[in-house]
Amino acid sequence: MSWFQSLFSNDIAIDLGTATTLIAIKGRGIVSREPSVVAVQRDAQGQRRVLAVGKDAKEMIGRTPIGIEAIRPMKDGKIADFEITEAMLRYFIVRAHSTRTLMRPRVIICVPCNTTDVEKRAVRESAESTSAREVFLIEEPMAAAIGAHLPITEPAGNMIVVIGGGTTEIAVISLGGIVHKDSLAVGGDRMDQAIVDHLRRKYNLLIGERTAEQIKIKIGNCLKSPPPSSMEVKGRDVVAGVPRTVVVTSHEIREALTEPLQQIVRAVRGLLERTPPEISADIVDKGLVLAGGGALLTGIDQMLRDETNLPVLIAEDPVGAVVTGAAMALDDPALLRLVAVR
Ligand SMILES: Nc1ncnc2c1ncn2[C@@H]1O[C@H](COP(=O)(O)OP(=O)(O)OP(=O)(O)O)[C@@H](O)[C@H]1O
Ligand SMILES: [Mg+2]
Repeated sequence: MSWFQSLFSNDIAIDLGTATTLIAIKGRGIVSREPSVVAVQRDAQGQRRVLAVGKDAKEMIGRTPIGIEAIRPMKDGKIADFEITEAMLRYFIVRAHSTRTLMRPRVIICVPCNTTDVEKRAVRESAESTSAREVFLIEEPMAAAIGAHLPITEPAGNMIVVIGGGTTEIAVISLGGIVHKDSLAVGGDRMDQAIVDHLRRKYNLLIGERTAEQIKIKIGNCLKSPPPSSMEVKGRDVVAGVPRTVVVTSHEIREALTEPLQQIVRAVRGLLERTPPEISADIVDKGLVLAGGGALLTGIDQMLRDETNLPVLIAEDPVGAVVTGAAMALDDPALLRLVAVR
């Protein structure tokens, strides 16, 4: 029966991220990769009605008229708005699953490693409310390590650093378990905020978080000597109150990103200091692997190489590694027993 059931049940893996929500389905790989944003409209009774989810909703951030709101229901790696998170999950799952569902799916959800028991229960319940048969939780760095094909079940240390939108999660993994971990509320969102602050301070220019993210992706970097590149940025002059354009350089954006990047470096170093010597020896050989969207920041691998003297690799699909690893765990009963959060 269980073999028969598995033929039809399209098990689902979900990475509910601060910036991106991904869904993978057994046998089909990643089927949805969308910003974690929901646009809602309030009706006369104050009820919220969902207008758009994902990419379309993200376009609306900072541009909504009165009565419409573009909400990011996840903040700092946690669910900040349960109702909207649930609506978002239901939308993505229903769309991904379409009419192929014959049985209620098994679901695995990735959670940050500092999630409290209360939060875990809430995540479980919101998945159950979308008709899951069985719900498993897996910690984000564990899922990323599996997705990046690290040999996590071997008696050897593996180090993974997942730089997401809201959090950076670092873990040392051996024999299928987490030996040491750390989670800090610093990720891509903080980098965007640092860029907003910089433009305000230096040019009296107010920009939105969307613009800041575009600057980061286009000319953001942590290179020692960034190649000279620049970008026109439009915003509102704080003093004159009118729209204005300034030109920012890759060099000054690198400066602006120093603080959040240093926090990540300090956390990585801190974890290395706490790592038992045998495992440290493994990591000297194998190095550390970067995942999460933050791993795409230009030069971040080189910066960590310089700061730790270790080999640093970037996972093949840094943003997809977490959900891919979760799907792999769901597909392998022995692995799932080992890595699922109890
Ligand atoms: N090319 C790039 N350069 C720099 N940053 C990038 C790039 N592409 C994406 N990012 C950043 O990566 C972050 C999103 O990463 P990811 O999707 O892994 O986060 P998340 O899983 O949703 O967040 P969390 O795990 O913290 O809840 C965003 O801050 C985004 O701006
Ligand atoms: Mg993530």
